[in-house]
Amino acid sequence: FIFFPPFFFMFVLLKGTTKEQAFRIGREIAEAVTATNPKPVTLKFEKVYLPCVLQTKKRYVGYMYESEDQKEPVFDAKGIETVRRDGCPAVAKILERSLKLLFDTRDISVVRRYVQRQCVKVLEAKASVQDLTFAKEYRGSASYRPGACIPALELTRKTMAYDRRLEPRVGERVPYVIVYGTPGVPLIQLVRRPLEVLQDPSLRINSTYYITKQILPPLCRVLNLIGVDVSCWYRDLPRIVRGPVSRLTAPSSIKWPGSTGSSPAPPTCDNYWSSSETLLSLSLSLSLSLSLSLSL
Ligand SMILES: *[C@@H]1O[C@H](CO)[C@@H](O)[C@H](O)[C@H]1NC(C)=O
Repeated sequence: FIFFPPFFFMFVLLKGTTKEQAFRIGREIAEAVTATNPKPVTLKFEKVYLPCVLQTKKRYVGYMYESEDQKEPVFDAKGIETVRRDGCPAVAKILERSLKLLFDTRDISVVRRYVQRQCVKVLEAKASVQDLTFAKEYRGSASYRPGACIPALELTRKTMAYDRRLEPRVGERVPYVIVYGTPGVPLIQLVRRPLEVLQDPSLRINSTYYITKQILPPLCRVLNLIGVDVSCWYRDLPRIVRGPVSRLTAPSSIKWPGSTGSSPAPPTCDNYWSSSETLLSLSLSLSLSLSLSLSL
């Protein structure tokens, strides 16, 4: 007879305490709640996050300590793109590295420079194709709606038109990348196998897609919470990126958001920065969290 969910956890925000104080307070809370509840109910104190970004209750990331003596924290991420397998490796790598830089330096300008360097790498086609490869599960031709636009299905249709025996097994991951095409062509037609891109010099990775649709959105979701507008970082790029980039990538296909034709670089976000950096240190000092679990 269960009258509580068998497992339930919560975060408690402790303002302005040290890690050691947090461990003491955590134990006190756990003992007090356990003592005042009927027998099988116990509140267990689990760990301290310092710092921590809590996106929702099931999506958070932080430096985790499980005991006071633990010298080096563990980077712990739940529900965010660093641990999700539906993106490409570049997304997870850039997000994880950005968050570690943020936690280590508490300086958003360091994170910004890092993210901008990664964007330039993608724009200059210097990122590895492997890092930009998605690998989603093929669920078998019968399990998709007719006309469904699923990359794994689309690629399978193409391969099978060539050789019917090449259908992937159900559950097999089908690797693909997104390339540039004629403007206006639906995204599904821009799905290619990584090998095709490596073998065909006319195919180019759509860097705009990777940056604006894959790499930046998860960063935006996390950094928005501390008042940082990541889209500025991308808008400021053309100012940083000089000549060679426009030669190496497809200049006609790249449209900087907010820029019109050959007009000078769009306004920078420098004013914004000075104000958001204060916001950052404030919210970081506030985001010490305790994770407690109530179990039967
Ligand atoms: C590249 O990707 C962007 C973002 O998804 C898209 O808007 C654009 O049409 C694509 N460009 C080409 C030339 O395929």
